[in-house]
Amino acid sequence: MAEYENNCFILHGAVVWSEGLNDLRQLDDGYVICDEGLCAGVYEEIPEAYRDFPVEDHWDGIIIPGLVDLHVHAAQYNNRSLGMDMELIEWLDKLTFPEEARFAQDRDYAVMSYDAFAEDLFIGATTRAVVFATADYLTTLKLMDALEDRGLVTYVGKVNMDRNVPDYYVETTKKSLRHTERWLSRVDGRYENTMPILTPRFTPTCTRELMDGLGELAARYGLPVQSHLNENPREVEWVRELEPDSASYSDTYLRSGLFGGDVPTIMAHCIYNTEEEIALMRDRGVYVAHCPQSNLNIASGIAPVRRFLDEGIHVGLGTDVSGGHSASIFETMKAAIQSSKMYWRYVDSTKKPLTFPEAFYLGTLGGGHFFGRCGTFREGYEFDAVILEDSNLYTMRDLTPAERLERIVYLSDDRNVTGKFVRGEKLY
Ligand code: GUN
Ligand code: FE
Repeated sequence: MAEYENNCFILHGAVVWSEGLNDLRQLDDGYVICDEGLCAGVYEEIPEAYRDFPVEDHWDGIIIPGLVDLHVHAAQYNNRSLGMDMELIEWLDKLTFPEEARFAQDRDYAVMSYDAFAEDLFIGATTRAVVFATADYLTTLKLMDALEDRGLVTYVGKVNMDRNVPDYYVETTKKSLRHTERWLSRVDGRYENTMPILTPRFTPTCTRELMDGLGELAARYGLPVQSHLNENPREVEWVRELEPDSASYSDTYLRSGLFGGDVPTIMAHCIYNTEEEIALMRDRGVYVAHCPQSNLNIASGIAPVRRFLDEGIHVGLGTDVSGGHSASIFETMKAAIQSSKMYWRYVDSTKKPLTFPEAFYLGTLGGGHFFGRCGTFREGYEFDAVILEDSNLYTMRDLTPAERLERIVYLSDDRNVTGKFVRGEKLY
């Protein structure tokens, strides 16, 4: 796959990248340097030390860091744009569980579906993703194979659930844990860019016993965790009924060792977090996967992103396919901006709407932080870059690179993505 010797090369063109929440940088004519897979910075002229590196010119292109999707369900890919008149619980029962269950029953269906999902990520602007598969660990491996084949960097989770799921899909506690361990042993040493992440689906479908078992695995194997939290009012009420002894919804994860601290954790949605839960997320370094498109589609609500950012909580963006209808993080940035405006207008006028630079930060550096040094063109960061072309997005105006990028976020699709690099490997 490697096109450049030792992954040493220079990309030349307009460059836009984020250095912080409201710190969008741009160069009209810049050089982004990749030195053995790591970024060596962005320059107006090629520094002496890199004069012999090959230069790839993108005269009409814009070079940006790769996008990061912190929350997406690969096994819901076939359901995109379906069932959007339902709310979460009904949507899970009628649409989502039957589809996910099919992956274990029909392996060909699973392999082809996962392949289509992986291909969609590959041709779009996303370079890194944190992914839910299904409860079936064998086909989860197929998904991991498909993502690894394409050179993307991902965390993938076999879903765990042992209650409140229809008979055709539920696991016993024992089987859920045993299959998770089998899956982990099969994953061990198999991939370069594809990593396992423990995935209790959410508290309504996971007994305390299962959560405790997963907490032990997280500690024993040093694994990260992903789940859902405070997404929908009925779900929140249900958790209160199911777990009356827990201090909060967040506590149902915390008490099993599945909520930050030494265990890197992503919680999707977080719309209805209490003050105590917000403080807990901050103190334990839990990441919020903000999924605004999904929150609109299945009428979950609007997450208080500004509040999270003001608290210093880690926030990234999640497409949450198929709650979200699109696997594009650009689409998600747009939804994040738009829904933050409705929050400001209708819910709390002290919480300023997200700006474009802020949304771009969330979809790159914000989520990228979960992967380590990733999401920007800072020196020493892993080199993920995407080339965008916007000549089909007609305008008579002369625009800055940042303005062109803003139009791309609102108007583009996969056809505007013409080049991609991950960890210094040229994918296309
Ligand atoms: N909560 C539990 N499972 C799911 C899911 O598949 N999608 C969303 N959006 N929320 C969930
Ligand atoms: Fe989700």
